[in-house]
Amino acid sequence: QFFTPKVLTVKIYDAAGTTVYHSQDRGLVGRVFRDNAPLTKALRGEVVFGVSELRGEEHVYERQTGFSRLLELYFPIVERGSGRVLGAYEIYSPLEPLARGVARFRLLVWGVIGAGLALFYGALSWVFRRASRTILDQKETLERTAADLRRAYGELQAAQARLVRSEQLASAGRLAAGLVHEIGNPLASLLGMVDLLGRCRGRPEEMAACRENLNRMGAEITRLKGILQGLLDYARPAEVRPAAVEVNRMVERTMVLVASHPGFRRIRCRPLLDPGTAVVVTDERRLQQVLVNVLLNAADAMADGGTLSIATGRGPAPVPEAEEARAGRPLPPGSPAVWLTVQDTGRGIPPADIGRIFEPFFTTKEPGRGAGLGLAICQALIEELGGELRVSSRPGAGTVVRILLPPDGREARDGG
Ligand SMILES: Nc1ncnc2c1ncn2[C@@H]1O[C@H](COP(=O)(O)OP(=O)(O)O)[C@@H](O)[C@H]1O
Ligand SMILES: [Mg+2]
Repeated sequence: QFFTPKVLTVKIYDAAGTTVYHSQDRGLVGRVFRDNAPLTKALRGEVVFGVSELRGEEHVYERQTGFSRLLELYFPIVERGSGRVLGAYEIYSPLEPLARGVARFRLLVWGVIGAGLALFYGALSWVFRRASRTILDQKETLERTAADLRRAYGELQAAQARLVRSEQLASAGRLAAGLVHEIGNPLASLLGMVDLLGRCRGRPEEMAACRENLNRMGAEITRLKGILQGLLDYARPAEVRPAAVEVNRMVERTMVLVASHPGFRRIRCRPLLDPGTAVVVTDERRLQQVLVNVLLNAADAMADGGTLSIATGRGPAPVPEAEEARAGRPLPPGSPAVWLTVQDTGRGIPPADIGRIFEPFFTTKEPGRGAGLGLAICQALIEELGGELRVSSRPGAGTVVRILLPPDGREARDGG
């Protein structure tokens, strides 16, 4: 209905161009209008259309209507068969209503497009809002979960710290029990020497023996003081503080600490400390706690005596052996490492057990002798130091425990 043209006038001409019909103005019938180029063309058989400017005589009626521009259409009237042009008819349509129709149609198209776009954006924003609400909900849930996990992790770390500490105190207790026993004998002999000195009358021939006794007493007291100091140092709580540690000195001090333990009385110690081992950046107290645990295990495994070899050195980390139990952070074979090896000739670990030795509470010892926490704690400690523990064993022949550390302590600092 937008484009149906309004017909204003219909005119019919004969082949000579004479008006034979005028729908509005009968007065024009019989008139011939010169210089009507479109009509001339139509009488030659063409369909002609254009916009009429309404200037000619023949537009009398159309000018009166008030329309300024008209669509003018000429159709030739052609005889069927011969193709002769018999005349033409002309139709006038005012352009304004047509333009209004087009404008209305354009408005409608834009309206539909606008409404469609609005609907589309509405739907899109609804989807986005729904999606963002879902994402926000999930983010909240995730944040809550993360907070829970952080709290649980913090509690776990605290529990582990307490466990490490209690195991440290337990092994210090075991060492102390041995020391009490061990310190008793030297104290008795010191007492004897004091008694001897008390009886000294200061005669010149006695003086050399007295001085000799005093020197021996001094040396013994220094030794006992060293052992007690070592125990105190071992049991004192401390933060993880990586520093340059002289591995050989640490081993020597630890040997003094454990050697007085009764479990070591029947054990021959063979230190093979490579002077080139030099220093490793790590936490000395933690490294020592690992070593004490390993040494006490070795002593337990050699109840009937044996040989304990402690070796140190530095070089590329060896390829792990097939049956080795491993804990901590694996050092890639060939990477630089400082190592500390404790080898015993004890009863060894059965293949069925070797995979379980790092499990908390795994023990083959009778109640009261072992809680099964030693190696589990060693695992946590060595992890903190960024190093690795490797244990291999042959039942009946003995066990080798390898402690491997990155020399620069990079991981000990990073991984804390
Ligand atoms: N050097 C070793 N020789 C033989 N067995 C060992 C040795 N070290 C560890 N084990 C075995 O591993 C188990 C777990 O050791 P550990 O975690 O230190 O706990 P615990 O010493 O309290 O039993 C021991 O009970 C023992 O069976
Ligand atoms: Mg143990």
